[in-house]
Amino acid sequence: MLNNSMRCAGIIATGSYMPETIVTNADLEKLVDTNEEWIISRTGIEQRRISDENTATSDIATKAAQNALSKAGLKAEDIDLIMVATVTPDMAFPSTACIVQKNLGAVNAAAFDLEAACSGFIYGITIAEQFIKTGFYKNILVIGAETLSKITDYTDRNTCVLFGDGAGAAIISEVEAGYGILSTYIGARGEDGNLLIQPAGGSRLPASQKTLDERQHFIKMDGSEVFKFAIKIMGEAAEKALASCGLTKEDIDYLIPHQANTRIIESATKRLKISPEKVYVNVNKYGNMSAASIAVALDEASDKGMLKDGDVVVLVGFGGGLTWGATVLKWKNYGR
Ligand code: UT7
Repeated sequence: MLNNSMRCAGIIATGSYMPETIVTNADLEKLVDTNEEWIISRTGIEQRRISDENTATSDIATKAAQNALSKAGLKAEDIDLIMVATVTPDMAFPSTACIVQKNLGAVNAAAFDLEAACSGFIYGITIAEQFIKTGFYKNILVIGAETLSKITDYTDRNTCVLFGDGAGAAIISEVEAGYGILSTYIGARGEDGNLLIQPAGGSRLPASQKTLDERQHFIKMDGSEVFKFAIKIMGEAAEKALASCGLTKEDIDYLIPHQANTRIIESATKRLKISPEKVYVNVNKYGNMSAASIAVALDEASDKGMLKDGDVVVLVGFGGGLTWGATVLKWKNYGR
């Protein structure tokens, strides 16, 4: 039961960082049997960013976080908690969040990673909201960061055209009543986890010569099954989150979906009956960046001045696990 005396939590600033190297569809045509026409018509992806061999997820996560901190006018010491949503941590431990904490000098922050694949940023916002509402923490950094190129098999045309690297961040703090996070909803269906998986490298299949030879450290995906799940769950999750704060799809001013495929985004747009101008799409530039996708899209939309004070902004995502989630925001441009 919601306690009326609880505080309201909202996103007070966002940030992002993208690696500079661009990989085009023409570049991928040299690696696998694919072509520009197939990639664009099936996915909408024109290019993606790839980090170099010396860059790890914590490096780009740190830059996205610094960008958000500077927009918020906060110091690293003001942050109470850092969550990094990622499926490509620097290593199993220490957590990428602890490495980011060190890089930022956020000495007062607790830090942990969270793994909900492409839904990770929404899971992170959901966790952050609880800490802010109760007054337990004041400023929380939620980062979605991925270097998916490190676990992408560039001999597998089914997956290598889809993924890219990037990082996005949001700072969640207390905001005035009526603004910020109106509702947030997360879900999971573990029984279908095998549809999207990095099989080896954990305790089930520790790294061995065999797992390397079998290319088991790379992403494996049943694309068409994930596609069917995605087109169903995107609309459902958004509608569920809207209903829990007394809104309907007619109230949406801006939809920021997980950027996996333009066909999935179009289907969600159609189901929610909102016009395409109200939907932010950048999958053409970056491909699918898993936990970073929604965070980067939100930062871009905000930076471009597309989100006005009072707009109802819906974030919605789905991903491996399987997982999904949606967050409804009453947007306000703080410090602009
Ligand atoms: O963030 C969450 C993670 N993932 C996703 O959201 C991905 C969800 N799935 C998808 O976006 C789509 O399923 C894909 C883009 C991965 C594939 O599109 P599709 O329309 O579902 O194609 P398909 O898997 O049914 O494959 C159709 C054909 C196959 O050939 P055959 O068996 O019909 O001869 C594939 O081998 O397209 C072939 N194909 C390719 N052809 C050229 C698969 N990848 C490629 C490629 N270039 N890169």
